[in-house]
Amino acid sequence: MKHPACALVTGAASGIGRAIAIKFSREGWSVLGVDLNADALEETGQLTSGYSGAFEGLAVDITDKTAPDQAVAAAIENFGRLDCLVNNAGIGFAKSAGDTTDEEWDRFIAVNQTSVFRMSREALKVLPENTGSIVNIASIAAVVGLSESFSYVTTKTAVVGMTRQLATDYGPRGIRVNAIAPGQIETPLTAERIAGNPRFVAFNVDPIPFPRLGHVDDIANAVYFLSSDQASYINGHTLVVDGGWTATNFSRRGYEM
Ligand SMILES: NC(=O)c1ccc[n+]([C@@H]2O[C@H](COP(=O)([O-])OP(=O)(O)OC[C@H]3O[C@@H](n4cnc5c(N)ncnc54)[C@H](O)[C@@H]3O)[C@@H](O)[C@H]2O)c1
Repeated sequence: MKHPACALVTGAASGIGRAIAIKFSREGWSVLGVDLNADALEETGQLTSGYSGAFEGLAVDITDKTAPDQAVAAAIENFGRLDCLVNNAGIGFAKSAGDTTDEEWDRFIAVNQTSVFRMSREALKVLPENTGSIVNIASIAAVVGLSESFSYVTTKTAVVGMTRQLATDYGPRGIRVNAIAPGQIETPLTAERIAGNPRFVAFNVDPIPFPRLGHVDDIANAVYFLSSDQASYINGHTLVVDGGWTATNFSRRGYEM
């Protein structure tokens, strides 16, 4: 029996990762969702249940050294193959270098950076030549500096570097590696600041030519596109999905120079 294509999505219990899992499932792919949060992961499974693609959850901390092996093995065991790895799980907060403790720095490196390396290394053992791909979720924090976001900007910039280098080394096998740099997307990660901080919204929304926050589906659709053969000549690229925030530095009327 030929198995449907399979995606492994980290951070699939919430926000962008959940939307990515649902998108792949809706498109008929099997999905192995990985997250720390077992209950919320189960909810993601329920949300995919109306679609044709099967879902399995694996509750594990991706910084655990055994997590990549467990996750890739679970994809193969449940679905017989792995076609796309989506390195989405990540953490964020705003602090300058001077205010960042060693523990905070180590955690950022472990979650946002080392896990991308280790998950990719393991997935590359089974991703099929000529059709396999990896999509990493970076951030606009990898394109511009953001006030007091030292660990976040540093680790997301590393994700863009890893994307380019993996594309360089594994492109010859026909495995494409790309990244997405989302702008401000409404998710549990950002909900508190969006609800309680009008300056945060003004900073993130007003400079967009058509002012609105991003929706999780804006990112899920872009991830699916990059994983598909519609993107077969796109490799090593970081796609900014931010409504034009970084490209235009847009000013409302009345603020012209
Ligand atoms: N929301 C935004 O505006 C935005 C913008 C740019 C980039 N991003 C990136 O998108 C990704 C998803 O963000 P989100 O907004 O959906 O966040 P979120 O907090 O809603 O979801 C992140 C998920 O990752 C999981 N996770 C965190 N650490 C983990 C670990 N060690 N092991 C396993 N799972 C872990 C969490 O449990 C959670 O379910 C992150 O990499 C984030 O940096 C988000």
